[in-house]
Amino acid sequence: MAAILKIGHRGAKGHAPENTMASFAKALELGVDGIELDVHVCATGELVVIHDFTVDRVTNGTGEVHKLSLAQLKALTIERDHYIPTLDEVYDLINKRCFVNIELKGRHTAIPVSDFINTYVKEKGYEYADFLVSSFQREELQVMSEVNPNVHLGVLTQASVTQAWQWAMEFKAKAIHPHFTLLTESNVHKAQQAGLKVYTWTMNEPEDIARIKNYNVDGIISDYPELL
Ligand code: G3P
Ligand code: MG
Repeated sequence: MAAILKIGHRGAKGHAPENTMASFAKALELGVDGIELDVHVCATGELVVIHDFTVDRVTNGTGEVHKLSLAQLKALTIERDHYIPTLDEVYDLINKRCFVNIELKGRHTAIPVSDFINTYVKEKGYEYADFLVSSFQREELQVMSEVNPNVHLGVLTQASVTQAWQWAMEFKAKAIHPHFTLLTESNVHKAQQAGLKVYTWTMNEPEDIARIKNYNVDGIISDYPELL
């Protein structure tokens, strides 16, 4: 049986400010197999790594990410000495030491992320299998599946494994990413029998992790990857 992949949530959110270079460095130090991060497109077109649609919760500024330029976003600080990274900066840091699960969080991110992946495959020695792109948003999944069928897709859900499975079939996704409370041994097994990987989130309690590991999921996303 294959090992269950250890995936750091927003880097290693339990140890450092989420989606910052420090958080990604910490996840690498903890020996993760993969890192999950959230992506938006900013006003000047760059892909930036931040969870929310606004900068208000995590930075010292205010405003919507898609209305701010990269220069404006870079002028903001997160907990005084961290900042919002671009997706390129994160890839430079990781340098193929683990895989990356890019979550399409913002609207209209599928095409720029597809372009990003194509560039990394054509110019930087990556393969399509090195990227796992997930989203809760039907439109983003649909656009990605149409513009770039080479990209490995994962369907996120916090509502229904059945719906995630249906979308996965529709968009030829490789994986479903259900919230862990939706999982049963049976629905994990059935999804895997249908050829889908099952990556679950966000698991931070040892008792929950032990139970879900018994279902033989393919990967677990945690703020504390050392618990996995
Ligand atoms: O990709 C798993 C998880 O990150 C989805 O929820 O809100 O943490 O992005 P959220
Ligand atoms: Mg996420």
